[in-house]
Amino acid sequence: MTLLEIFPSLRSEMPSRLDSAVWPRDTRYDGEGRIMVGGVALADIADEYGTATYVLDEQEVRSRCRAYRRAFPEAEIIYAGKALMIRAVAEWVTQEGLSVDVCSAGELAIALSAGVDPERIILHGNGKSSDELRTAVRCGVGRIVVDSLTEITLLSALATTRQRVLVRLSPGIDVHGHPAVRTGVTDQKFGFPLGSELADEAVERILRRSNLELVGFHCHLGSQIYNPDFYGEAIRRMIGEMARVRQIHGRILTELDLGGGHAVATSTRPDEVRRQPCAGPSAGEAAAYRGGDAEMNVQELAEVLDDALDAGCARHHFPRPRVALEPGRAIVARAGVTLYRVLSVKHIEGGHTYVTVDGGMSDNPRVALYGARYDVVLANRHPCGPQMTATVAGRHCEAGDVLAVDVQLPADLRPGEILAVPCTGAYHHSLANTYNSIGRPPVVAVRDGRARTLVRRETVEDLMSREVGV
Ligand SMILES: Cc1ncc(COP(=O)(O)O)c(C=O)c1O
Repeated sequence: MTLLEIFPSLRSEMPSRLDSAVWPRDTRYDGEGRIMVGGVALADIADEYGTATYVLDEQEVRSRCRAYRRAFPEAEIIYAGKALMIRAVAEWVTQEGLSVDVCSAGELAIALSAGVDPERIILHGNGKSSDELRTAVRCGVGRIVVDSLTEITLLSALATTRQRVLVRLSPGIDVHGHPAVRTGVTDQKFGFPLGSELADEAVERILRRSNLELVGFHCHLGSQIYNPDFYGEAIRRMIGEMARVRQIHGRILTELDLGGGHAVATSTRPDEVRRQPCAGPSAGEAAAYRGGDAEMNVQELAEVLDDALDAGCARHHFPRPRVALEPGRAIVARAGVTLYRVLSVKHIEGGHTYVTVDGGMSDNPRVALYGARYDVVLANRHPCGPQMTATVAGRHCEAGDVLAVDVQLPADLRPGEILAVPCTGAYHHSLANTYNSIGRPPVVAVRDGRARTLVRRETVEDLMSREVGV
């Protein structure tokens, strides 16, 4: 018997919805105090599909796509498939009018099998193999973003019809994130430094090839960027470079792809929200921590981009290029919730309380990789009693396999109960691995009160099928 059954008046104390900064908008408690997403109780999904399981709210993905289309009616919105490339998502985003960016033959195959028009596919990657380039050219991808001189030679040898390409430039903008995601700075593996001899060489070589058509420039500044001014600065620098190409080669580039990296809130703890300064290439010390700043406001971004385009184009007397944006996380992160079952609750005398769950760094390596922080919430009942501070630990054989530290959970949490981790739609399934030979979780879509499997759970048999040696 639950507390709610004993004291029905407690129901009125329950929030009817959870914070939409990190949960899908259609999240609420049902009459029994269970969390519902897309009209389905998460506890029922855990019972039916097992745990760990990724739940994905279809309407949330679609509505994020629509929000981008509304905010940027003239821009091309390209979904960055690396965030979550599965067939259903590729289909939903293209139905909502987005293009798709892929960065491997595997992602390309998934997009094509979802029926995405190859013309609307953009191929990325700093290490595209010749096989991948051949496949992309053969299936007619709309654009390829060139990342090295070698690639230009390879592409030109492979293209049988005129292939449209963009050159990826690093504009020297430091967004001060984790070193692994600062891709706007010049000294890193992606692209060509803006204004460098290498970049000039790339442009020249492409322009000399009759089967390659240089249509524009691309840049990607990093991840979790919530200060739109970084993109304004990128526009100013990139337009300047486009104007230089016109001056030197008499060629007008018409496309400016500003990459993705728009922040979503991954934790509702205000003390973890850090303000991003923006003062060009070396922005100095970060300002104070402040709540409510973690998310990119797309409307504000649209205004900043518009102003920067006006100013940059006026300054260089350059025709306004068509802008493309490549949000990944901002489309799918909040649509995803990961479910785990509690395996044990261990109170260490004089130490922490460890709640071990049946997943961990194999389904969410972002904590170990980037120090990402998450909320963790009990999903199968609404807790009304005292809380405890706990560390939610994964089941893998690594002391660092921790999903969340210092989270508040009910003091009477028991093995068998269901924990939900919101904002796990991006870079979770796509970064998942099989550490400790644990199969990857399924992806289950919810919509209008119904759940369905999009990707099935990886079984021990799946893992064994790769074992072909003795
Ligand atoms: C070239 C490019 N575009 C877009 C993205 C998407 O970034 P996000 O998911 O943070 O929007 C990435 C992420 O690494 C990227 O490398």
